[in-house]
Order: sequence, then structure tokens, then C-alpha cells
Amino acid sequence: MNMMIRWPALGDLRAPARRRIPHIAWEYLDSGVGAEESLARDRAALSAITLTPRFLGGAPAPDISTALFGKDRKLPIGVGPIGMSSLIWPGSELMLARAARDAGGIYCLSTAAGESIEAVGDAAPGSWFQLYTPNDADMRRDLIARARTAKFEALVVTIDVPVASRRERQRRAGVAMQPKIGPAMIADFLMHPAWLAATLRRGRPSFENLSRYASAEELSQLSAFVNARLSQSVTPDLLAEIRRDWDGPLLVKGVLSPDEALVALAAGVDGIVVSNHGGRQLDPAPAAIDMLPRVAEAVAGRAAILMDSGLRSGADIARALALGADAVLLGRPFLWACAAGGDAGARHAFTILQDDLRNVMHQLGCARPSDLPSRLTERPMA
Ligand code: FNR
Repeated sequence: MNMMIRWPALGDLRAPARRRIPHIAWEYLDSGVGAEESLARDRAALSAITLTPRFLGGAPAPDISTALFGKDRKLPIGVGPIGMSSLIWPGSELMLARAARDAGGIYCLSTAAGESIEAVGDAAPGSWFQLYTPNDADMRRDLIARARTAKFEALVVTIDVPVASRRERQRRAGVAMQPKIGPAMIADFLMHPAWLAATLRRGRPSFENLSRYASAEELSQLSAFVNARLSQSVTPDLLAEIRRDWDGPLLVKGVLSPDEALVALAAGVDGIVVSNHGGRQLDPAPAAIDMLPRVAEAVAGRAAILMDSGLRSGADIARALALGADAVLLGRPFLWACAAGGDAGARHAFTILQDDLRNVMHQLGCARPSDLPSRLTERPMA
């Protein structure tokens, strides 16, 4: 199958993904919070940023590699943590972890993933692990120890889910940790035979990283378990405690203000992920790309800066790198890729994104990401 011809652009993966997965899985992936204003705000803010090309400096061969935590990486591009990504496409965690490993990008496994820390560590050592902080200190330390034993490179503490948000479309679609599977849902599953066959082969998605901390009785009420045990707000003290337990690179994800970046920095983090959770948490939140330059300025090189939320192309990645990111994460597009084309789709998404980024940088006359800030179009003073 020549994927380049079938899906030449990243956006081409969205429609086949939608066709190949049931409604409940699509609504889980695609939805945002509330009226989905933050989802729209991310896109509007990104497309308002223009980059002015320079043509007369000669044709550069763009080098898009980046240094993160003292190590060179081929790509400044990674897969953000997606809880229950096996519900969206069975086995997508391992597909994406391997694709990222082979492309020289990043893969970040969610605490709430459908694949275990151990399996992903085996398949792609050097992946990152995202932590939703458990209330129980023993459980937290055990998750961190498992990530260390499984040779994960970095720990990413998500701070922007102090409480589950109201995602209206998910509610309407009946998305739940244990959905009520009635006749309409079964009919929908039957109309998506590739997804159904893959799901039956793999088994019903479950929280592979969490199940060992629950008794059989608690497991039957998994949603209550997750709400009760993973609901801790992250305080500076907790962050400092996690810092003591994890000696590798430590990042916080969900920062939208320079002040909070400085608090995280004081707790000893090595990286900040500027993010509004892909428009899924707080509808009045600012666009992540709008806050990126302010956070980068406050951090002033003392920690790595990553950014996600709304990125859909090499041009968007160039915008984020121009505004101070050292690397970026994408969520939904990588899941479109798995749903549309499985393993090959996951690899293809990395190919599209890196080709696109090189192409944009070539036209801008940028030999390396550090040349990008000078291409931001200067706005006349209002
Ligand atoms: C997420 N995100 C997320 N973040 C996190 O820290 N832990 C998680 O378990 C999840 N789960 C999750 C599920 C789904 C279905 C989506 C779409 C997103 C947020 C994710 O890591 C990332 O911040 C956004 O997806 C980035 O926005 P885009 O690229 O999807 O626009």
C-alpha cells in the first residue's frame, strides 16, 4: 500500500480514522471541554502567526534535530500522553512507541494507558511516562519505580486535571470508564469491523498500569477507583517530593502562566510542557501557543520548553519552535494515523510531520530551529 499517495497530508488521516472507529471512540478522541471554545482558540491563535520567508540567503538543508536534557534527538516531535488510546485504536500505544523510537522522536505513555509501563519499556526503552499523581504515596512511588526499572527516560507530571472536566460531547456519546454497552452501541461496533476485530483480538481495553493497585472488588468499580485514587492536585511540595523520587528528567505538563512555570522551576523540574490539554479541560483557558513565548521568556533557558494543543502540521511546529519551544507534542493526529493505517499509519505520521517541517524551514531560509524566531512577522505597533 503506497501510503504517501493515499494520505499525502496529516489532515487526510482524519476522515478515514473517523470512518474506521465507532462513535464512542471518535467522540472520546475528538471532543473538547464545554462549548469547545478553547479547542477553536488553539487553532485560531496558531493560524494567526505568520512567518516571513527569506529567499536570498542561499538554500539551507534544514537540520531539525534538537538537544533535550543533554541528548541529541533527531526530531523535535513527540506523541503526547493519551489515556485509553487502545479504546481509540487497539494496540496504538505500542505502535506509536515503536514509530517514535525508529523516527528519533518522543513517545509519552499515559498513566491511564491501555498498555503497561513494562510492555512499552520493553518495546521502546527511552520513552517518557506521564504521571497522574495518585493520592496514595506508595502507589505513586511504585509507578515511578516501575518507570525507572522499565528504562523510561523522563517523567511528565500532568498538573492541569485537578478535577475531571465536563466534556459535553463525551457525555452525549456515553463515554465512561465502563460504558453501558446497549444494542445501539453493539450495532455501531459491528459497523466498524476492522476496529472490532482488532479489539476482540486484543481484549477489552483496561487500565494496564493501575489494575494491580485495585482489589477485585475495586476493579469492578474501576471508575470510582480512578476518581478516588488519582484525584490529587499537584502542589509545589508534592512536585518537590516527586523530584526526590525520580532522578531523570522531570517535566510538568499543563503550564499556561509564567508564574506557574517559575514555581515548577523552583521545585526542580527540568522541563515545562505549555499546554491547555488540547482544549479538553478549561474552556476559558488561553490558547497554549499564546502563552508559550511568555513562559519561555520567564524560564529563560533554565528548563526545556515543550508545547502542545492544536498542532496539526510542520508549519504549526515551526510556529511553536519560533516562539520558544525546544520540541512539541501532538495528541489527536497520531491517533488518527493509527486508526487510519495501524502500524504503518503511525510511522507515516512521523514522516509527514518531519518532511513538512523541513519544507517550511527550507522556504523560510532556516538551517536550524534556532533560526526560526527571526522569521516571526513583525507587527506594526498598534
Ligand atoms: C489527552 N491528553 C492527556 N494528557 C495527559 O497528560 N494524560 C492523559 O491521559 C491524556 N489523555 C488524553 C486523551 C485524549 C483522547 C486526548 C485527545 C488528549 C492531552 C494530550 O496529552 C495533549 O495535551 C493534547 O492531546 C494535545 O492537543 P492535540 O494535539 O490533541 O490538539
